[in-house]
Amino acid sequence: MSVPLPYVLILYYSRHGATRAMAERLAAGVESCRGIEARLRTVPPVSPTCEAVDPEIPAEGAVYASLDDLRHCAALALGSPTRFGNMAAPLKHFVDSTIELWLGGTLVDKPATAFTSTSSLHGGQETTLISMLLPLLHHGMVYAGLPYSEIELMETQAGGTPYGASHVAGKRSDRPLDDQERQLAFAQGKRLARLALALAHRPGERS
Ligand SMILES: Cc1cc2nc3c(=O)[nH]c(=O)nc-3n(C[C@H](O)[C@H](O)[C@H](O)COP(=O)(O)O)c2cc1C
Repeated sequence: MSVPLPYVLILYYSRHGATRAMAERLAAGVESCRGIEARLRTVPPVSPTCEAVDPEIPAEGAVYASLDDLRHCAALALGSPTRFGNMAAPLKHFVDSTIELWLGGTLVDKPATAFTSTSSLHGGQETTLISMLLPLLHHGMVYAGLPYSEIELMETQAGGTPYGASHVAGKRSDRPLDDQERQLAFAQGKRLARLALALAHRPGERS
């Protein structure tokens, strides 16, 4: 029987597709490494009407995440569009359902990162990334941003931050990822995969 590969969970919310395009670039970065794979998952929108229920399988894109997707991941990348400088409510709603994993210390010492998309250049990318960092730290995860050895960080005229990959989607959410944004999202996925493989060995741990 073949042993399943470890996976990086790329968990995102995207209303208009920009954050999803980033998630797919991170996944390509993960899949460029041997011995690990990417698992893309999304979350349903939330509604002020409690009775509103979404179909179990979304019409397009990744399927919805379960707690088990999170429980068994080797690493986690969280992605969200900016909502007033913060992560979007549907992603926060899912994060708030992870108390059971927090109680069990399930995610302790696993690497994690975050990525985001905004309409405007100075519309709150860093604060949104930090809003996702906070619950990751509470879970005991090891946060990895983007190092300046990725030269696109210095060259970018749009998205890309040391706190994580980002994208400026424009007023109508129709600006595609540019070359630097694409490269940085790819590099972030690749880095997370390498860290996941390295940390999976857990040197120094008593058996
Ligand atoms: C309620 C709401 C709040 C938003 N707040 C911001 C914001 O603070 N700064 C910004 O630049 N864009 C903001 N936006 C725009 C989205 O973050 C942006 O269009 C993003 O690229 C959408 O990503 P998506 O295509 O993955 O849905 C907001 C959009 C909505 C609906």
